[in-house]
Amino acid sequence: MKKIILSALMIALALPAMAGKQLTFDKTKATKGTLTMPRGEVVNYTMYTNLYYVTNVEDSTYQFMSIFVPEKADESTPIFMPNNVGGYMASEPKMINAADASGRALSEGYVVAIAGARGRNSKVVTDGKTVYTGRAPKGLLDLKAAVRYLRHFNKEIPGNTERIITDGTSAGGAMSALLGATGNNPEYAAALKAMGAADERDDVFASVCFCPIIDLEHADICYEWTYQCTNNVTRPITDAQAEVSKELAAQFPAYIKSLNLTKPNGEALTADNYMEYIKSLIIESAQEAKDAGAELPDSVGFKFSQQGFAPPINGGVNMPQGMMFGGRGSRPGDYIIDLDMEKYLNYVVTTIPLKTAPAFDSMGVAGGSDSGENQEFGDEKGSSVNFTEYSLRKSTGDDNATLDAGIAQNVRLLNPMTMVSDSGSTVAQYWYIRHGARDRDTGFPVPVNFACKLQNMGKDVNFKLPWNRPHSGDYALDEVFAWMNAIAR
Ligand code: DHB
Repeated sequence: MKKIILSALMIALALPAMAGKQLTFDKTKATKGTLTMPRGEVVNYTMYTNLYYVTNVEDSTYQFMSIFVPEKADESTPIFMPNNVGGYMASEPKMINAADASGRALSEGYVVAIAGARGRNSKVVTDGKTVYTGRAPKGLLDLKAAVRYLRHFNKEIPGNTERIITDGTSAGGAMSALLGATGNNPEYAAALKAMGAADERDDVFASVCFCPIIDLEHADICYEWTYQCTNNVTRPITDAQAEVSKELAAQFPAYIKSLNLTKPNGEALTADNYMEYIKSLIIESAQEAKDAGAELPDSVGFKFSQQGFAPPINGGVNMPQGMMFGGRGSRPGDYIIDLDMEKYLNYVVTTIPLKTAPAFDSMGVAGGSDSGENQEFGDEKGSSVNFTEYSLRKSTGDDNATLDAGIAQNVRLLNPMTMVSDSGSTVAQYWYIRHGARDRDTGFPVPVNFACKLQNMGKDVNFKLPWNRPHSGDYALDEVFAWMNAIAR
C-alpha cells in the first residue's frame, strides 16, 4: 500500500515537470550576420541557433539546429535544409558557409535550416557507462524531428514549410532520400514521440541527393554484379572474396526482377538489359561534357562517330566535309557511339581501388572486418552486426541463420528504396539525384534503381551519372539552384 501511495505521489510530482517540457523558439535570441560570397556579394541574415528540436534531448552535442533567414524572406520563401552527415556518423549543425550549398542557398534568398544529427559514432557517458546514441535509425529520426520543429514554429520562423528542400551527400544523401521517401510514415511515429519531437507532419517538398549510399541490404549484390569484370584484372581479390563476389553477383537478376522497374522509354528494366542502360546514362553525361568542351580519352572505352555532318546551308546545298563555313555542323569524332563497359569499369577501378567483397556487410565474411554500416545497425552498447542474411550466414557458418527482427526493422527504416513505396509514406514530388560516373562507393544500380522507382511512381526526377565525378556532392550548384528555383518558386 505504502508503495502504491509512493508511486502515485512520484507520478503526481513528475507530471507538471513533464507537461512543462516544451519545444521553444525565442525570437529575441536572434543575432545578425553577413556572409560574403566568393564573387564579393554580401548577404545579410538573421540567425537563430541552439534550437533543440526534441524535448527529451539524449545527446546535446547534436540534437539541435540553426536557422538562417536572409533579409527579404517571408512566409512564401522556400526552405533549404542541408545535412552534414557523412559515413553515417554524427554531424553537428555547421555554420552557414559561403563556399558551400548552404551559403549559396542563402544568397539565392532561401531560408536555410541546418540540423545536427546523431550518428553511429555518437555516444554519451553517464555514471561511467557509455551509451551509443545514434545507431540506426536515430540520425534520421533527428532530421525528421527538425522538419517537425520547422512546422511547429511556422508562424514564428519565416519560410514556407510546404517548400522544404533537403540536401545531403553520400550517407547524407541517404538521409536526404529518406526524408523525401518516409514523410509522415507511422513506423517512425512512436520513436519520434518518445524523443519529444513536435506532433507535426514531417514530409518534405523535394530532395537533393548526391551519391546516396542507400539500399544497404542489396548494395553488396549490386556492387559485385557491377564490378565482377574487374576481379583479378584491376581489382586484386582473394579466393574467398572471389567466391563471395560470384555468389553476390548471382543474386542480381532475381533482385532486379523483384523490383519490377520500367525504364523511361517504357521497356522493362531487367538484369539482361541493365548494363546497356547504365552505359546509355554514362554516354549521355559524357556527351554533355564533351559538347561543353571536355576532352574524353579513347582509352577508357569510348567509340566515336567516324562521319561528320554538314547542315544544309546556302540555300540547302550541302557543303563537302572540311568546307563548312565557321565550323558549323559536326565533325568526325563529335559523337560518342559506344562505350566498352568492361574497359570503362576497369578504368574506374584504376582511379580508386574498389571496396573488398562484400562491400558493405563485410563483418566476418571472407576475412572482412566491420564496416561503418555494420556499426550503424549495431546497438547502444556499440556492437557491430551483420544486416544481410547472406553475410550473417557466412559469418556465423549457420546456413539457417536469420536476422534478428529488431535489426531487420532498422534496416527497413533506413532504406528509402523500401519505404518510398510503403503506403504510409508521403513522398516528395521532386527529386534531384546525382551519382558520379566515376563513383565506386556504391554500385551504379543502387541510385539507378532508386531513380527509376521514383520515375515509375510518377515523381519528377532529375537524375544523372555526371561525367568524371568521383564520390562527392554539392557540385554544379548553378544547375542545382536553377532546378530548385524552377520547382519551388
Ligand atoms: C559514405 C561512404 C561510403 O563508402 C559508405 O559506405 C558510407 C558512407 C560517405 O561518404 O558518407
